[in-house]
This record gives sequence, structure tokens and C-alpha cells, in this order.
Amino acid sequence: MNNYHFDLQTDMRGTGCCKWDKAGAQYPFPFSVADTDFRPPVEIEEAIIQKVRQGNLAYGIYPPAFHKAIKSWYERRYGTKLASKWIRNSPGLIVSAKLIMEAVTRVGENVLVMPPVYFNFREIVEKNGRNLVESPLILAQGHYRIDFEDLEQKARDPRTTMMILCNPHNPIGYCWPKEELAQIAEICSRHGVFVLSDEAHADIVYNGAKHTVFLDSCEAAKDNCACINAPGKAFNINGLYVSYAIIPNERIRTAYDNAYENHHFDFSLLGAEALIAAYEYGARYVDELDEYIEGNMRYLDEFLKTNLPKIRMVPPNATYLAWLDFRDCGMNSQKADLFLKSAGLVLNRGDLYGAHGDGFMRFNVACSRTVLEQALEALKNHPSHL
Ligand SMILES: Cc1ncc(COP(=O)(O)O)c(C=O)c1O
Repeated sequence: MNNYHFDLQTDMRGTGCCKWDKAGAQYPFPFSVADTDFRPPVEIEEAIIQKVRQGNLAYGIYPPAFHKAIKSWYERRYGTKLASKWIRNSPGLIVSAKLIMEAVTRVGENVLVMPPVYFNFREIVEKNGRNLVESPLILAQGHYRIDFEDLEQKARDPRTTMMILCNPHNPIGYCWPKEELAQIAEICSRHGVFVLSDEAHADIVYNGAKHTVFLDSCEAAKDNCACINAPGKAFNINGLYVSYAIIPNERIRTAYDNAYENHHFDFSLLGAEALIAAYEYGARYVDELDEYIEGNMRYLDEFLKTNLPKIRMVPPNATYLAWLDFRDCGMNSQKADLFLKSAGLVLNRGDLYGAHGDGFMRFNVACSRTVLEQALEALKNHPSHL
């Protein structure tokens, strides 16, 4: 029996919600910003309300239950044992990524990524004087794979000191198998390249996939990586700015601590309460969410195959982000964007994720089935339909 009602669409317009009050103010179907449309579990709401009712919104003391909740979630969900001392809080994954990059690399050094990939990786690398080096994923017969030979060649360059991995991978919606993560870990460790594994979408896996925390991929990984994560994506609480970094390597952890202090970051009291409630009570919510997303992905795939077969979907097994290929429609991302908008849909342009993403669009399907159906009908009935 399902306890959560992801079929109920809450109207978020007029609430100051970025997805619905920006793109959603102009178009009926905003599918761009990577939030879900789903109400967080009631235990999160209650934890926040309780804190507010206590009248305590002053500077807080770090709640000891924060680390405990993360450790317990990692053991139950991913089978990974963490030491408390490895865990550091952070106001956001990209904040952590930047601090870790500053701790590990120097200006002028190379940071390796595998595009098409989350666009903020490029931002933090290039805005901070490092060079972005790309080892593009290879798309063959509708599936992406890693070009390990190319990756090793780029990792071998002595100027390459870090890799930012997206695990699971946004925007292609893919959960990397453990063996491939181990292969990345071994290559990087062989060539002195530190791995930052961004695991923002770790909880959203389906179609039989299982998330591997990078530090658990093999022996070589642990001391040569940091993993960053948050409950924001799965529980739809990105606006609370609560996330964390897991850094087993003591030297990198100390550098992270110094940078954190230097920036005068602290923690969000309400965010910490939300994380504790999410990880303590949210397992069932995530199980049902994953099932719902899998259903939406299947619906989208079947709808496209039946009605709009020139739009091809890369088969996902993680994230609520579908990666759609418009190249057979004779469209680059710019044209596809205009076409979709003229039918009332806003997706993210694929070229945001690097030149290799041109001709693709990223579709966030974390909405009710009804909204998905309405949007796809609008697309099908568009006068210049494909
Ligand atoms: C892979 C990935 N990392 C990081 C983020 C952003 O995280 P934060 O807002 O905590 O910086 C996103 C958001 O879409 C994401 O998809």
C-alpha cells in the first residue's frame, strides 16, 4: 500500500517557489528546475514546526543527532559504514565542491569532468582559475558509456589533480555500476587525481539500480575522495540549504575545515532538523518516490515511442531527469527549446551541460502523473507536431 500521495499536485504558484514562480509564471508546464513537486513527508514539517514553536531560532549548537542520522541512513540505504569524524556539514553541495577543489588543487591545474554533466561543475572550475578538462561520455546505441582510455590519458597529465564525478549522473539519469566506479577510482589513484563524487541524486534510483557511495567502490577510493550529498533532492527541501561532505582523508578534511571557517559559514538550524527527520523517518517516502518516478519515466518513454518517436529518450535508472534526444527531429537545443515552449513546456537546454549536450533537452519528471499526461498531450497536439 502506498502512504504518500504523489498524485496530488500542490499548486505552488504564488508561494515564492523558483520552479513555479519563474518559468511557471509564463508557461503552464515548468520542468526545468531540479526540485520535485511533492510535499515533503509530514515528519519533516513537524520537526520544523516544533523548532519554531520552541521559539528558538537563535544561533544553534550543532545537533549530535545530525551525524548519527547520516551514518544510519548510509548504512540502511547504501550499506556503507561511515566514521562520524569524516562528516562535515555545508550549506550546499556546490559550496562543498568549491571548498574541496580549493583544498585539493591550485590555480592553473586541471579538473576533469565527463560531459554532458551538471553545469555548475564548469562554473566553479572556470570561475576559480582552474582548467576544465573534458572526457566526454560516449553515446552508442542509445546508451552512454565512459571512455576509460581517454579518461586515463587525461588523468595521466601531471597538471590534472582532481576529477568531479556526478554519481548518479545528471543529466543522463544514470547510476554508475560499482565496477565502473572502481575503475575510475583506480585510474585516479594511479595518477594522483583526487575524486570529488557529487551524490546529490543518490536516493533516486530505480529499474533495479543500486547506488554505490564512491568511497565504497574499492580500496583505492577511500583515502583519495570526498563524497557530497544532501536530502534536498529526494525530500524536496532544497530551500533549506542543508548538505554535507564526507571526507575520509584527514589532510583534506583539515583544509576543508579551515576554508569553511575562513568563509564564516555556519549551519542552518531548521535545515539540520529537517535532515534528521528525513533520514530517521523518510525511508518509506523515498521507496515510494522511486517507484513513482520509475512509473513516470516509463509513461514518458511509452508516450514518446507511440506518439513522438523522433524524440528519443536515453533509458534512465536514476534521478528524476529524463535526457531527451531531439537530433532526429533536426533540432539543436535552441530550436527544441523554442518548440517545447510554444507547446507550453519548459525544459533545460542540453547545451547547458556542455557542447556534447547540444540537440538534447533535460526533462524533470518529478511531477504528478496528471501534469505529465497533460503536458505530453499538449506536445502531441501542437500544430507543428513532429
Ligand atoms: C548533481 C547536482 N549537484 C549539486 C546540485 C546543487 O546542489 P546545491 O543546491 O546543494 O548546491 C544539483 C542540483 O540540481 C545537482 O543536480
